[in-house]
Amino acid sequence: MNEILKVEHLKKYFTKKRIFGSISTTVKAVDDVSFFLDKGEVFVLAGESGSGKSTIAKLILKSIEADSGKIIFENHEINNEAKNLERIRMNCQMIHQDPYDSINPRMRIEGIVSEPLEIHNIGNKKDRLKRVIEVLHEVKLEPAEEIIKKYPHMLSGGQRQRVVLARALTLKPKIILADEPVSMLDVSIRAEMLELMTELQKKYNISFIYITHDLATARYFGQRIGILYMGKIVEMGPINQVLVNPKHPYTQALIDAISEPDPENLHKVKKIRINEPTDVDVYQGCRFRAKCPYVIEKCKIEPKLETVGDKHLSACHIELD
Ligand SMILES: Nc1ncnc2c1ncn2[C@@H]1O[C@H](COP(=O)(O)OP(=O)(O)O)[C@@H](O)[C@H]1O
Ligand SMILES: [Mg+2]
Repeated sequence: MNEILKVEHLKKYFTKKRIFGSISTTVKAVDDVSFFLDKGEVFVLAGESGSGKSTIAKLILKSIEADSGKIIFENHEINNEAKNLERIRMNCQMIHQDPYDSINPRMRIEGIVSEPLEIHNIGNKKDRLKRVIEVLHEVKLEPAEEIIKKYPHMLSGGQRQRVVLARALTLKPKIILADEPVSMLDVSIRAEMLELMTELQKKYNISFIYITHDLATARYFGQRIGILYMGKIVEMGPINQVLVNPKHPYTQALIDAISEPDPENLHKVKKIRINEPTDVDVYQGCRFRAKCPYVIEKCKIEPKLETVGDKHLSACHIELD
């Protein structure tokens, strides 16, 4: 078995209290999500804003507690024992969308990049500085000896995201969870950052969970993909199969929305919007049924992920070609 990480039946609901009155609503942010990550693989979690991507990342790192489900890292379930948490936090690093979510603006780059070493009590000051310089070279922030003295605001957005990547690399992690790492960058530097991540991923055989709403970067960087819709994976499989031959109407709509605006596609996207009713309980049956152009009676029953091709799964009652 080549799996480094397994997520089984993960669930996290949030209950939001209304300000007026006593009614509260429950958001099923992550609802029975299962997937695996192979050693050295890039698995993409893709979905629109609010589909539960970041919540899954937080659950894996145990920065929030799941309602139920398991996180299995190198064949051991991660529970809340200190030793266990230390293991996942040493081996699994996070890159956030906004660099300022993980870097302290009042610290110099040296402090920011060496912080994980300090937290885990690794090496002395000299060893740590050596490692900081090393990883700054890795992410091509030059001259590293000058960069370490700077503060984050003295760098460009692209350079700051390289600092975040360097910081994630200091502990030589086995897994990197990258939550929309390039979506705040200018288009012109997005490609550079993706290239750098690809290069380092291959060089150190790092397993990546790449979280994005952008299918173009997903295809560039990833090998397998899970499409999330309202807290559920609706389709999953090898990235070329899923994106070239999507089986789920939601995946098809996502792809249509980004493809070139030919009249045929515009028609499809529009059809999906028109079909939006207001009185459907979204958590009953298929969650996409309110927007799905192919909806049938059976969609009131929740579809399960089933095999539709080689390692390709889709959760839909309708067979689309
Ligand atoms: N701490 C929280 N409290 C209440 N609701 C939350 C919280 N975190 C996330 N949510 C809700 O859970 C859903 C999924 O959020 P999130 O995982 O951030 O989505 P994504 O990263 O895909 O944009 C959203 O509806 C969001 O509003
Ligand atoms: Mg998010």
